[in-house]
Order: sequence, then structure tokens, then C-alpha cells
Amino acid sequence: MVVEVPSTGHSWDGIEEYDNPLPRWWLWTFYATIVWAVIYMFLYPAIPMVTRATQGLLGTNNRAEVAADISRFAEANAPIQARLVETPLEQIATDPELANYTANAGGAIFRTWCAQCHGSGAGGATGYPSLLDNDWLWGGSLEQIYATVQHGIRDPKDGDTRYSEMPRFGTDGMLDRTQIRQVVNHVLELGGKPYDATLAAEGATIFADNCVSCHGEDGKGDREQGAPDLTDAVWLYGSDPATITRIVHDGPFGVMPAWSGRLSEADIRAVASYVHGLGGGE
Ligand code: HEC
Ligand code: HEC
Repeated sequence: MVVEVPSTGHSWDGIEEYDNPLPRWWLWTFYATIVWAVIYMFLYPAIPMVTRATQGLLGTNNRAEVAADISRFAEANAPIQARLVETPLEQIATDPELANYTANAGGAIFRTWCAQCHGSGAGGATGYPSLLDNDWLWGGSLEQIYATVQHGIRDPKDGDTRYSEMPRFGTDGMLDRTQIRQVVNHVLELGGKPYDATLAAEGATIFADNCVSCHGEDGKGDREQGAPDLTDAVWLYGSDPATITRIVHDGPFGVMPAWSGRLSEADIRAVASYVHGLGGGE
């Protein structure tokens, strides 16, 4: 049976709008949302004013809640952090509770502050050393890693930073182009890469005169000066002739920021322990 519904009189291209009542359930839901909105407006912060919104009768304050949450966690962690700071570095790993804490908190600190340079898995990138392997520029004991993190490397703002400076042999005219080609071929020879024997023979003398003070007689590097081992398969900047030429010509100057002052003592200890525990620690 077709019920005749009155028309609203609106008509578009012959299509008419009927004056059907809204479904009851829909209408009541709609009224309920209006009532809810009014109650909500009085109870919670709602209407934006010039400097802040109206506060609401319940006094809800999300900022204060977050601050309270943070201080609750800080309070909960305070005892273990205090213990971490008091415990001698070499005993941290033998204390199960501290070891567990440094693995978790240290990992979180690493992902927040270190991953952008060293990679989220600490695998490193060109110019940023991998912290997973046994190859250390400045040393891989917990003590040494801790010192590196605390004071950074070549950080001009930290007086105790780890410092050394490989000369800019080309830029400063200490070696000419031929000499650089020769010594680069000697470095390639040391690194087990394809090299030109004639050039490398000349290069060995240049190396002995200019490079051994840091990289050692055998090219195996010197941790006192952060000078990399040139004989292994791990390269900070790259093992191709063009990269080595650029490094010898321009001099590298890798900078790692110091973290003392930016991270708490407990956080530095946690992240240093975490890095030490990644697999390459000594
Ligand atoms: C802005 C980039 C940057 C950030 C951020 C950074 N590092 Fe480094 N880090 C470097 C560079 C570059 C080097 C290598 C410096 C050099 O050439 O000697 C380095 C070296 C290191 C070394 C020494 C490795 C070795 O072989 O001796 C350790 C350990 C280290 N970083 C740990 C950390 C930790 C832990 C953090 C976070 C708290 C961190 N780094 C954050 C850039 C960074
Ligand atoms: C005063 C110390 C010093 C002297 C002298 C020196 N180096 Fe270095 N060399 C370093 C340091 C330190 C680094 C790492 C620097 C950095 O990461 O910023 C380095 C890095 C390198 C690298 C990069 C290695 C890699 O893993 O990518 C090469 C190649 C190199 N040196 C070759 C030479 C050659 C060739 C000479 C001589 C002509 C020389 N160096 C002389 C200190 C020295």
C-alpha cells in the first residue's frame, strides 16, 4: 500500500522532496548529544578564551596529568638510578637488576639520542662508527665507552673531549698530488685492496714519514689518538681510492657531541652499558 506523504513543495527537475518525519531513534539520539555537549562544556575545558580555555568544573588539566605521570615514573626509577650512579662501572653487568635496567633504559636512551647518527641498530653509517663490532677507535671497554659518551669526540664545548687531528695533507700543502697518490696506494695495500705496486713502494716511505705517528708502523692504528686501523675490513669513511684520497687531502674531522650536562649521570651510565653490551664490548 502506498501512503501519500505531503510534499514540502521543493522540486528539482521534477524530483520532489517529501516531508517525512525523522526516525524517532535518530531524533532522540540527536537530542541526547546536545544535552551531553552542554554537560560536557560545563565539566571540562571547552570554550577557547584569550589566553586559555574555560577550565570546567572538574578541574581537568592534561598538562598537569602528564607532569604527574612523568614525576611518578621518575620517582619509581630514582632508587635504581641512584644505585647505578653509586655502583662502580665494572660491577654494573654483574648486578642482575642493574644489568636489566641498563639494557632497557639504555636502549631507550640510545634510540632517542644516538640512533640518528649511529643507526637505530647501532650499525653506524659513513663517518659514524658501528658500535656493534670489535673495532674501536677510542676503545671498547665500558670505562672507555663511558668516557667517550661523557666528553664526546672533538667537541669544542667540552674541555676533556677526546681530541686528535689528522693533518690536512693536501689542503695544507704538506704532500703534493703525486705523493698523495703514492701514499693512498700504500693504504690500499695495507687494507688488502687492489693497488699499484710501484706507487705503493714510494708510498710506504711517505707513510713512514707522515702517518706512523698516529696509525702505527704496521698501520694498525692507535686508540690513544682515535686513529683507525687501516689494515682491517672496517672503514669509517670508505676503502675506495677516491675516498681515501679525499681523506688524506682534506683531513677527516669526525665530531661526536659530549653528553655530560645533557644527559644525567645515570643516563650516561645506562647508555654506555647498553653500548658495551651490544656485542663489541671489551
Ligand atoms: C651527531 C652525531 C652523533 C650522535 C648524536 C652520537 N654520536 Fe657517537 N659518534 C659520532 C661520531 C662522528 C663518532 C666518531 C668520531 C670519530 O671520527 O672519531 C662517534 C663515536 C662514538 C663512539 C666511539 C666509537 C669507537 O669506535 O671508539 C661511541 C662509543 C659513541 N659514539 C657512542 C654514542 C652514544 C652512546 C650516543 C648517544 C648518547 C652517541 N654516540 C651519539 C657521532 C654521534
Ligand atoms: C695526528 C694523527 C694522524 C696522522 C699523522 C695521520 N692520521 Fe689518518 N687518521 C687519524 C685520525 C684521528 C683518523 C680518524 C679521524 C676521524 O674520524 O675524524 C684518521 C683517519 C684516516 C683514514 C680514514 C680511515 C677509515 O676508516 O675510513 C685514512 C685513510 C687515514 N687516516 C690515512 C692517513 C694517512 C695516509 C696518513 C699519512 C699521510 C695519515 N692518515 C696521518 C689520525 C692521523
